[in-house]
Amino acid sequence: MSPAWTKGAAVSLPQPGRITRRQFVARLGCFGATVAAGGLLTGCAAPSFAFSPISIPANASVPLKQVASDKAILFGAATQQWILQSDSEYAKDFVKHCGVLVPENELKWATVEPQPNSFNFAPGDWLADFAAANGILFRGHCLVWHNQIPSWAGRATSAAAIQDQLTNHISQTVRHYAGRAYSWDVVNEAINPDDGRPDYLRKTVWLNALGPAYIDLAFRTAAEEDPNAILVYNDYGLEYETGNAAARRAGVLKLLTGLKASGTPVHALGIQAHLQGTDSFNSSSLASFLKEVADLGLKIFITELDVSDQRLPADIGIRDEIVADVYQQFLETVLQEPAVNTVITWGLSDKYTWLNQFSPRPDHQPVRPLPLDRSLQPKTAIAGMINAFNSSAGRPPLPYVPASTQ
Ligand code: XIL
Repeated sequence: MSPAWTKGAAVSLPQPGRITRRQFVARLGCFGATVAAGGLLTGCAAPSFAFSPISIPANASVPLKQVASDKAILFGAATQQWILQSDSEYAKDFVKHCGVLVPENELKWATVEPQPNSFNFAPGDWLADFAAANGILFRGHCLVWHNQIPSWAGRATSAAAIQDQLTNHISQTVRHYAGRAYSWDVVNEAINPDDGRPDYLRKTVWLNALGPAYIDLAFRTAAEEDPNAILVYNDYGLEYETGNAAARRAGVLKLLTGLKASGTPVHALGIQAHLQGTDSFNSSSLASFLKEVADLGLKIFITELDVSDQRLPADIGIRDEIVADVYQQFLETVLQEPAVNTVITWGLSDKYTWLNQFSPRPDHQPVRPLPLDRSLQPKTAIAGMINAFNSSAGRPPLPYVPASTQ
């Protein structure tokens, strides 16, 4: 099979090497803005497209999970039952590359408990069985969130009734998967500085009814049902140098510090990492944030990695190089922190990415944010990821992975 990244040769750009890949990506802020506005390259300094392409490592065709596990890092992806059931080639690629499976929607509250105390675990069970049958770890996502919840959830005549909804949902769900889900996203996206609270907590139905203590309660309820599961606080928008990202990092750090001080059973931070191909990536703030989180005694999982090409140029070769560059730069940064031991992409193939719907391109071309293209061919992104895994330091073996699969 000829890997798609040989197409990188088609990116014949003037004066290669005049600026670095990273500078190239940075300059796209201007380029991207004009593309998004539907215009040509007016109003910006003429962009220089010279950059060194991603180098293709010798082990570029080794499955991602294997390259990662050589450094005691878990690699996996989110997926959905209907995709695995309807596309056997995709299912084969999933098994080849992934050591972790995360249900993209099947364990969200709206699916699991559409009516009060009436549970539907069939889609989640199908995925848990698929994972077990193929020697893949199964990770639950997500118990408490403000999105994809049924209309009744978080609404009742008393706070006590809302608390019962929350604890019953968590107890029943974690109990059902105890011993099968090695880890859970317990609380998702509880920080939002834009909501204006001094503690940066997001104003949700849960916060409104129960106050900030709902977060501690959620973790304790999950831990009671499965004391062995790795319980994760998961959030987005933490990666960049913007004021908003800095506020989000501050909010998350404050939250985690408070939880640890209260003895809350939280074991890891999940960094979603929905990245933008057009944003320049400066690693220093992220690196020190990761260190502060690790110093709290927490592990760090990259939980929903993808790189949006929404505002990148139309040329597929250029787009793929830039996306690959962001994968490599980001992973090189986060993997410098030894507490980061898990990398999960939000999907595996461009054919099924949520970004087709949530971040479509203005030119209506299909988006290309994931490791495999729409024909399930490996993209330059895989080379970027493997370069980052290759250059990362080894880690202690992961306790929850059977020794035979490490
Ligand atoms: C997304 C799914 O990928 C979509 O299929 C669904 O329609 C909406 O949710 N952050 C999260 C994920 O924590 O649950 C979201 O998943 C993506 C953003």
